[in-house]
Amino acid sequence: IFLGNPMVSNWAEPLIQQLAQDIQTAAEEAVKNRGIFHLALSGGSSPIALFHRLYKHHFGFPWKHTHLWMVDERCVPFTDTDSNFGSLERHLLQHVRIPYVNIHPMPVHKNQRLCDEEDKGTEEYALEISALLTNSSFDLVLLGLGNDGHTASIFPGSQDGITGDKLVVLSESPLKPTHRMSLSLPLINKAQKVAVLVLGKGKHDIITLISRAENKPVRWPIFGVKPNSGQLVWYVDYDAMFR
Ligand code: 6PG
Repeated sequence: IFLGNPMVSNWAEPLIQQLAQDIQTAAEEAVKNRGIFHLALSGGSSPIALFHRLYKHHFGFPWKHTHLWMVDERCVPFTDTDSNFGSLERHLLQHVRIPYVNIHPMPVHKNQRLCDEEDKGTEEYALEISALLTNSSFDLVLLGLGNDGHTASIFPGSQDGITGDKLVVLSESPLKPTHRMSLSLPLINKAQKVAVLVLGKGKHDIITLISRAENKPVRWPIFGVKPNSGQLVWYVDYDAMFR
C-alpha cells in the first residue's frame, strides 16, 4: 500500500532489516522504561525505506507510544517535493498509526514566512523538545549521509549547528541555496542512540574519508558523538562502501 515500494539494493536489505530490528528494540525498551519512544527522523530516501520495513515486517512496533520528530527540514511548504516532512506524510504517515498529536513537524512556515530568523520557529521547536523530552534527549536519532558529507542539515565546512548552544538552528546548503532548519549537533549528541544509515552509490569517497579520519578531530558533524559509548552505530550498505 506504499506509494512505490521503496526498494533498496539486495546488498542493503539485510542492513535495513537489522536497523529496523534495532529500532524496534530501542522502542520497546523506551516504552517499557518511560512509556514513550521519542524518534527523530532525517529526510531523504533512507528513512522511508526503513519505515516501510518497520511497518511491513515488525509487528508490535509501539506506534501509539511513538513521538515522531524531524531531524531537519527544508524551508519550503510541506506540499513541496523537497519537503522532508511532506515526503514522510505522503509515503508513510497515512499508513503508520502514530497519533497525530505525537507527530512534530518543524515549524518552517511561521506567520506564512519560511524560516525567517525573526519568526522564532527554531526557538519554538527547541521549546517543544525541551518540554516533552527529559533532558532534551531523544531515544533514537536516525541520520543519513549526503554525498557531500552533510548529515541532518549540518554541512562540512560550516559551523551552523556545530558551535553555539542553540538546540535547533537555521542553516543553508552550500550546493543548493535552500534555507533549512536542523537539530544541532549538541542536541543530536544528547540522544540515547544515534544511527547513521548510509545507503546508495556515490558515498564511497565520503565514507572512506570519515573512516580514515575517525580518530582525528575532523569537524565532521557527528564525530562529536562518542562512538565507543555504543551510542553511535553506523549502518553502511555495500553500494555506499564499494560502488
Ligand atoms: C536532508 C536530509 C539529509 C539526508 C541525506 C541522505 O534534508 O538533506 O535530511 O541529511 O539524510 O541527504 O539522504 P538519502 O537518505 O536520500 O541518501
